Amino acid sequence: MPQLAINGGPKVIDRQIGSDWPIFGDTERNNLLEVLESGRWWRGGDAETSMVGRFEQAFAQFQDAKHGVAITNGTQALECALKAIGIRPGDEVIVPAATFVATATACILVNAIPIVVDIDPATYQISPEAAEAAITDRTVGLMPVHYGGYPCDMESLKAIADRHGLWIIEDSAHAHGSTWNGQGCGSIGDIGCFSLQMGKTLTSGEGGACLTNDDELARMLFSFHHIGRFEGRPFYEHHIVASNLRMTEWQAAVALGGLERLEEQANTRDANARYFEDGLRQIEGVSPIERAPWVTRWNFYFYHFKFLSEQFGGISKEVFAKALAAEGLSTGSGHLHPIQKNPLFTERNWGPACFGDNAPPDYASMPTPEAERICAEEGISMGHRLFLGDTGDMDLMLEAIAKVRENVDELK
Ligand SMILES: Cc1ncc(COP(=O)(O)O)c(C=O)c1O
Repeated sequence: MPQLAINGGPKVIDRQIGSDWPIFGDTERNNLLEVLESGRWWRGGDAETSMVGRFEQAFAQFQDAKHGVAITNGTQALECALKAIGIRPGDEVIVPAATFVATATACILVNAIPIVVDIDPATYQISPEAAEAAITDRTVGLMPVHYGGYPCDMESLKAIADRHGLWIIEDSAHAHGSTWNGQGCGSIGDIGCFSLQMGKTLTSGEGGACLTNDDELARMLFSFHHIGRFEGRPFYEHHIVASNLRMTEWQAAVALGGLERLEEQANTRDANARYFEDGLRQIEGVSPIERAPWVTRWNFYFYHFKFLSEQFGGISKEVFAKALAAEGLSTGSGHLHPIQKNPLFTERNWGPACFGDNAPPDYASMPTPEAERICAEEGISMGHRLFLGDTGDMDLMLEAIAKVRENVDELK
């Protein structure tokens, strides 16, 4: 008699686990109605009472930053940050291989050159050693990503930045509510950039934000998102060439509602993940990504754990994932492959507006073996909504994994 659900056996998880996503309630409804009836559907110049202004202040405070500028989306938040920090054509920016492609394409969109480096297999985050080894006389900054919301080794990265005179823009698109040594991600480097796209742990459907503690950078972020205006100057006085990257009042109305729940949800995810990690340690062939001492809260967009094929009967990650899905637990592979393996890099499809006279590097010769191996063989990702339930849900997820391990011979 087969035991595994993939072979016709009974399924471990036959009820919903975690939570639906997105979550919303009366705050969103009331805020949206307030915007509708106010007749003021954009922020204008009002940082005090507009929904956008209120969101900027509340979100910056939540992440421990002094200033916030709400932006249309996460990709444009990165572009805005690069412009505000003074990027010039041909400048090199160091980015990790394990991320969403926008970390690199935001650089290309401002005619800079992303240099892709490997990740640390212990944390799945940018390797500080690899980052330092990639520095050239054209390097101007580091763009670490708190991948899956796990805070990067910011102490080492800040030391490298100090040694080489570089800035740091933290791509915090996955790290709302995550803390590094007790400090909110996105408030540690020079600028932090967030995405509020629908899947993120704080969402307005689409949206983004830039945070900074630096008054001058805040002034430039404001101007670069607002067609070159400066605060306090006449409305039709434009000082720099800049786009319109303003968030709408509708988006901020929704984001403000989510922000009210973020602290509690972040604590729930973090606590459930710790419980799940204890369970993973008891199952042969899987293991958690161990928390470095600086990971004081891990509020993940997706959670990663390690699948070790040689200790799991030698089956592939794909077969493991299929067997788990049949047991009722759906998992993924993060972003599937290192970013430089995307056709845009392998086929050099940057389009005529990018790079100018600065020859782009050969991305095919930018090896990132750890990212490659982890994406292909080891890293298993799970959506954040699975961790919004209780420890009973964690037990079911662990039971599904343990069952596949115990009956792995059925999969060979
Ligand atoms: C690491 C990372 N950076 C940037 C972005 C871009 O954000 P958006 O989709 O809001 O443009 C994303 C989106 O998922 C992301 O995962």
